[in-house]
Parts: sequence; structure tokens; C-alpha cells
Amino acid sequence: MNPAFWWYLARASGIVAWLFLTAAVLWGIVLATDLFPATRRPAWLLDLHRWLGGLTVGFVAIHIGALMADSYVEFSVYDIVVPFSSDYQTSAVAYGVVAMWGVVIVQLTSMAMKRIPKRIWRRVHRTSAVTFWLSSLHGTYAGTDAADPLYILTSIVAVVVVMAALAYRVLNRPPARARTA
Ligand code: HEM
Repeated sequence: MNPAFWWYLARASGIVAWLFLTAAVLWGIVLATDLFPATRRPAWLLDLHRWLGGLTVGFVAIHIGALMADSYVEFSVYDIVVPFSSDYQTSAVAYGVVAMWGVVIVQLTSMAMKRIPKRIWRRVHRTSAVTFWLSSLHGTYAGTDAADPLYILTSIVAVVVVMAALAYRVLNRPPARARTA
């Protein structure tokens, strides 16, 4: 096996996880606008958002597994779960660790959505926007491919599109009673 296999896998899965996260956050923001009111929304639109979230979790798991399997940098379980504990690119990796916890917490609270107050669930869910920024910073500062023109272009497009969607969401808040997310 090519000794760089795990490193390639870590990079590829990190990028795919980040793209799925971007799509999930973007789709979530769009669903919360007045473009798709909950009463007239086909079920698949919400299912797609859930799938994007689930795929993000899956690819984050592959990213972490591959980093641990790669021998170039030794990552312990402690380094993976505690921000600022890794000696390797401490701050850049810490952004990824906090983003990972953000993804896990949003996923778990969504699975337990029926058992927690909607107000709490909504507040937790909105941290996804912060998770998106953190993971974008993480990829830019930790990633080998961050200097690649295609990576830079993709980052700019992702950030601009998410910011535009957030601005639209804030400026076009649906009336309080019609709000569902
Ligand atoms: C939501 C969670 C995460 C996302 C979306 C994510 C995404 C990314 C992305 C997009 C890259 C750039 C890959 C490249 O340049 O080819 C990257 C690199 C990296 N990530 Fe993460 N990451 C996450 C969590 C973590 C965690 C928890 C760690 C803890 C060790 C970590 C460690 C790294 C390292 C060391 C690199 C540099 C790999 C390299 O290019 O050599 N990431 N990540």
C-alpha cells in the first residue's frame, strides 16, 4: 500500500466533510427562510438536509480515522477530542476539534429533537453557522491543499454563498408563528 494512502484519505475526506457541512448549513438556512414555508414544503427537502448532516458526520469520522492511522503526525484520542492539546498546528487543529464537537452535538440533538424543548434545539442548531466558519478556518490554516487555486476558489464561493443566505435569512424573517426552525 502507498505509505501516503492515509494522508491522502485524510485530506480528501476533510474536504468532502467540509463540502457536505457547507451544503447542510446552506440548505438549513434556506429551509428556515420564507422561500419554503413548513406548511407547503415537500418532505424530501427536509430529508435532504438531514442526509447532508449525516454524510458530514460520516466523512468527519473518516477524516479523523485516517489522521489517526497516518504515521506522519501522531494524534492521540486526547488530541482529537480536546481543543489545543495537539502540538501539531495547535490553533488550526483546535478549530477542527471544536467544529467536530459542533457537528456531533447538532447531530445528537437533532436525533433527540422530540425529547428536548424546541427553543433549546433551535439555539443549538443555530451554532451550525459557527461550526461552518470554524471548519473553513481549520481547512484553510491546517490543510495542505489550502494554497491550491481550486481550493481557494471553492472556499470563497462557499463563504460568500453562506453569508448571502444568512443575510437573506436575517432580513426576511418569517412571522414568529409560522417559524419552525
Ligand atoms: C467538522 C470537522 C472537520 C472538518 C469539516 C475538517 C475539514 C478539513 C479540511 C477541509 C482540511 C483540508 C484538507 C486539505 O487541505 O487537503 C482538513 C485538514 C486537516 N484536519 Fe480537519 N476537519 C475537521 C476536524 C478535524 C479534527 C477533529 C482534527 C483533529 C486532529 C483535524 C485535523 C486535521 C489536520 C491535521 C489536517 C491537515 C491535513 C493535511 O493536509 O496534512 N480535523 N480538515
